[in-house]
Amino acid sequence: MEQIAYVNGSFVPLSEAKVSIFDRGFLFADGIYEVAAVLDGKLIDNASHLARLERSVGEIELALPETTARIQEIQKELVARNDLVNGMVYLEVTRGADTGRDFAFPKNVKPTLIMFTSTKDIINAPSAKTGINVITVPDLRWARRDIKSVALLAQVLAKQAAAVAGAGEAWMIEDGKVTEGGSSSCFILTQDDVIVTRQNGSEILPGCTRKAVVALAEERQLRVEERAFSVEEALAAKEAFVTSASLFVQAVVSIDGKKVADGKPGPMTNRLREIYIEFAKATAV
Ligand code: PDD
Repeated sequence: MEQIAYVNGSFVPLSEAKVSIFDRGFLFADGIYEVAAVLDGKLIDNASHLARLERSVGEIELALPETTARIQEIQKELVARNDLVNGMVYLEVTRGADTGRDFAFPKNVKPTLIMFTSTKDIINAPSAKTGINVITVPDLRWARRDIKSVALLAQVLAKQAAAVAGAGEAWMIEDGKVTEGGSSSCFILTQDDVIVTRQNGSEILPGCTRKAVVALAEERQLRVEERAFSVEEALAAKEAFVTSASLFVQAVVSIDGKKVADGKPGPMTNRLREIYIEFAKATAV
């Protein structure tokens, strides 16, 4: 059965899911996206993703073409129509298809809203057991990384360099500190058992998984510090890991070819992964 996508009000076979070449998402990366995980046919932490979507579109003065309540209904209908059990729902909203290429916002153009699903067994992904290797790259991105913009060229290059190096993620470095992964938030566990992750701000995307993991750790009286850290500190740490909607919590076992601790996923990472999966299942909608 052909996959179904959602395009501007219609559920259509993937082969018919098309937008204009004048779409501002295509011409200017003038759009915002979200990725929510699906477990057992249910959306994970979706309220958090929709809240970030509203914030991101607000920051670029883009009006959502549907309410977030309706967007969630569409996400669910798409999951159902595709019989999706485990994977992700991708959604993107752009400033719409204009009649030409004017940089300034067009008038009377309806935003584009598209969605599609993909299959992934996030819980049983092989890398969840082995951990991933990461490389470091300079962070070449713009100054508003808190906006989940579709302008991802720097991440495309970073993750391509990682793929060529046989690594699963690239950690981006600015002023000697890790900002975040190409598509994930970065954490370390220090030798004195403090979970460290960079504080939110315009330098990083406020990760939904990051937010949940920090809250879950604090509820369990684990020590969390939100501050920047360097690669040297990560290499001297007990553990390192990344979080994202498409990975949940995933151990980082080497950085630029140097092992983190013994080069195996550590107990805190495994524990936080279990705690997150429990939370995800318990709050899925
Ligand atoms: N990426 N930082 C960046 C730059 C990201 O692109 C992502 C997510 C994250 C983690 O955010 P969250 O926990 O809300 O997924 C952090 C998605 C998964 C992607 O681009 O596919």
